[in-house]
Amino acid sequence: MEKKYAFGETVISQDALKARVQELGREIAKDYGDESIMAICILKGAVIFMTDLVRAIGTDVKLDFMAVSSYGNSTKSSGVVKIVKDLDTPIAGENLLIVEDIIDSGRTLKYLKENLESRGPKSIKICTLLDKPARRVVDLKPDYIGFEIEDQFIVGYGLDYAEHFRNLPYIASLVEDEAVEE
Ligand code: IMP
Ligand code: MG
Repeated sequence: MEKKYAFGETVISQDALKARVQELGREIAKDYGDESIMAICILKGAVIFMTDLVRAIGTDVKLDFMAVSSYGNSTKSSGVVKIVKDLDTPIAGENLLIVEDIIDSGRTLKYLKENLESRGPKSIKICTLLDKPARRVVDLKPDYIGFEIEDQFIVGYGLDYAEHFRNLPYIASLVEDEAVEE
């Protein structure tokens, strides 16, 4: 027997996402003022949020990308964080804004923040679209949070289940679809 999954009910609608991302963009632009921003997108989950967010910030924002793996293809954290793709550019003296899709245990971002700190940026802040504070196992506080959500597995707007459903334009729950005989 193999379990199949599908997306279920809407957890955050397209309109709600759009409105909150615009708010975050305005808040970030105001906080940084004349300071430059280098947004670091954590691939692949944050890519859709990041492209909307940087356009909502409006001021000049440099972009770079990093890919880490912590989950494999399951819904449980392995606790192991590996850099799969590193930044292309040096970050010494830059104001880094780490852009993440969701913070769960916090292990991924705690590791990444420490790793990036060691490269001498001027500042580091974290902007996450979603936060599951109930699941935190390490001490990590994001500077900007789109939405706090309860402990449930969700997909869409960049977030995946085993690489599926990233292109869903809103956020939905993940449901067991059917049990199929092998
Ligand atoms: P953490 O290291 O436990 O904080 O895990 C963060 C990463 O786990 C995120 O970047 C996501 O890739 C993944 N993740 C955590 N919760 C979910 C979820 O509900 N849906 C999809 N991915 C998730
Ligand atoms: Mg991710």
